[in-house]
Amino acid sequence: MSCRRSAIINMSTVLASVKKCPETFQMAQMYPYRTSKAALNMLTCCQAEDFKHRGILVTAIHPGWVRTEMGGPQVSLHYTL
Ligand SMILES: NC(=O)c1ccc[n+]([C@@H]2O[C@H](COP(=O)([O-])OP(=O)(O)OC[C@H]3O[C@@H](n4cnc5c(N)ncnc54)[C@H](OP(=O)(O)O)[C@@H]3O)[C@@H](O)[C@H]2O)c1
Repeated sequence: MSCRRSAIINMSTVLASVKKCPETFQMAQMYPYRTSKAALNMLTCCQAEDFKHRGILVTAIHPGWVRTEMGGPQVSLHYTL
């Protein structure tokens, strides 16, 4: 498997991590965003199972905290959570 072949890259966030919720909740409570991205993570797992016999890479990534419209102007370009 490789991103040189067919691949599905789902854009997730660390805010979807159930394990990391205690350390991230106060900075970004955002219930709907967290919940929908957690569902995306499950979708990613299901797709990975579904497509592995075809050699299709499936993964979800967290891009860091990025200065975009959603990320906001205050974030450092090099900030990682
Ligand atoms: N920025 C961060 O720090 C950060 C951190 C973790 C994860 N992410 C993830 O990275 C991805 C991109 O985020 P971003 O920071 O680039 O956000 P953004 O600057 O707000 O851009 C969001 C993009 O999604 C499009 N969009 C929004 N609603 C849509 C809809 N209903 N149908 C089709 N397109 C729609 C927007 O289109 P228009 O331009 O036409 O409005 C825009 O191009 C998201 O999945 C976000 O959850 C971002």
